[in-house]
Amino acid sequence: MASEKVEDDGAGQFADPLFDIPGDDIFRNKDMLRVGWVPEDEDMIVGRDDTMAELAEYINPILAGNQPDHVIIYGKTGTGKSLITRHVVQRAVAASSAEVQHAYIDCKQYHTDTQVFTELGRQFNDPEQTEQTIPETGLSTGIYKKRFYDAVDTCTDGVLIILDEMDKLKNDDAILELSRAVEDRKASVPIGLLVISNRIGYIENFQARVESSFDAQDIQPAPYSVKTLREIMESRRSAFKPDVLKDGVIPKAAAVAGAEHGDARRAIRILRHAGQAAAKEDAEQVNEEHIDIARREAEKNRFGETIQNATPHETLVLLAIANLTLRNDGRKEFKQSEVYERYTEEADKNDTAPLSQRRVRDLVNDYALLDVLETEKRNYGKQSGIHRVIQLLLDPEIVRDVIEATRI
Ligand SMILES: Nc1ncnc2c1ncn2[C@@H]1O[C@H](COP(=O)(O)OP(=O)(O)OP(=O)(O)O)[C@@H](O)[C@H]1O
Ligand SMILES: [Mg+2]
Repeated sequence: MASEKVEDDGAGQFADPLFDIPGDDIFRNKDMLRVGWVPEDEDMIVGRDDTMAELAEYINPILAGNQPDHVIIYGKTGTGKSLITRHVVQRAVAASSAEVQHAYIDCKQYHTDTQVFTELGRQFNDPEQTEQTIPETGLSTGIYKKRFYDAVDTCTDGVLIILDEMDKLKNDDAILELSRAVEDRKASVPIGLLVISNRIGYIENFQARVESSFDAQDIQPAPYSVKTLREIMESRRSAFKPDVLKDGVIPKAAAVAGAEHGDARRAIRILRHAGQAAAKEDAEQVNEEHIDIARREAEKNRFGETIQNATPHETLVLLAIANLTLRNDGRKEFKQSEVYERYTEEADKNDTAPLSQRRVRDLVNDYALLDVLETEKRNYGKQSGIHRVIQLLLDPEIVRDVIEATRI
């Protein structure tokens, strides 16, 4: 039964039928469409030569054993910050004839001082050289720091440290300490710091806070153009089997992903989901309809994340607006009073006592900030006066479906 698939791509080769999942006709190497996938081949990094050259210039001194500039890389999500930083740092390490090493820290995972120094120490420590071990837990912050500096001094000629998603750090201390470690004579080899964030407001506050104590160069990668998004996806074409992607698929995915801002993550995710949709249907090719399915899927996921922490009343307000929009009278904008009325009906259906008009208005304002709703003042003429109107920015069916699926 599975024999014809074996030649295919190695799937369907396991004797136990439970694991004998046939390979599909769509993907050749799906891994290439994973967000964390870092291409080894530099040709697969598209349209960022200037950014890479700028970064290389700042960190260049470490190759000769000198202190490099620290760098802050910030900009919108999916603009290649993590990819480019990792890639350039890896190349610096490879190009150096000295024992330069690097560490990558995802601050979502390591967000206290102690966690950061522990993880850094563990990444640089070679117990044979330092005659010290660094346990995951159990020591004081001071000891972790000391062992980290010992490891760096003993095992390396210099280090490049990437702190990605640095806005997740509990405070600025680790950054400030690391950036001044050489001046403060805590370390005797150069330490170059590369901090990354997509929260632009956070970075502006951070820069104001640490202005005099953290001296760093800025790099701000701009969102990609639709053309570059297309090239990025072209460069991942080999994730698919030959001739699987129909002609219009990549341009359409680029247009969808570029609609908000040029977000390469979104582009690649849509392409992967479109491939999955095609595989699920047992189709031989990925077509533009699969992109539509993928777009809906992406919107569902995004909205699902947005409402993950919503209270039941917030959810009911959104449901009310979605249901008003789905009423089929063609209207998309509703007055506050209409929304409130519909919300009380939804609350009734759920045996919940409704919140006051005022509270609901506040909730609507909160969602307006999350790009789920838009509110605007509208003048309805002398008799009706000025009203605030509310409009859903997402597909109402998606809003309804996601809410119904997640409701307890
Ligand atoms: N110039 C590029 N060439 C090829 N692939 C790219 C390029 N830029 C980004 N990508 C791909 O797009 C995805 C998102 O990129 P990356 O993770 O670097 O974005 P980011 O700016 O760090 O986003 P975030 O702020 O959300 O962390 C990754 O899969 C990455 O491989
Ligand atoms: Mg990133």
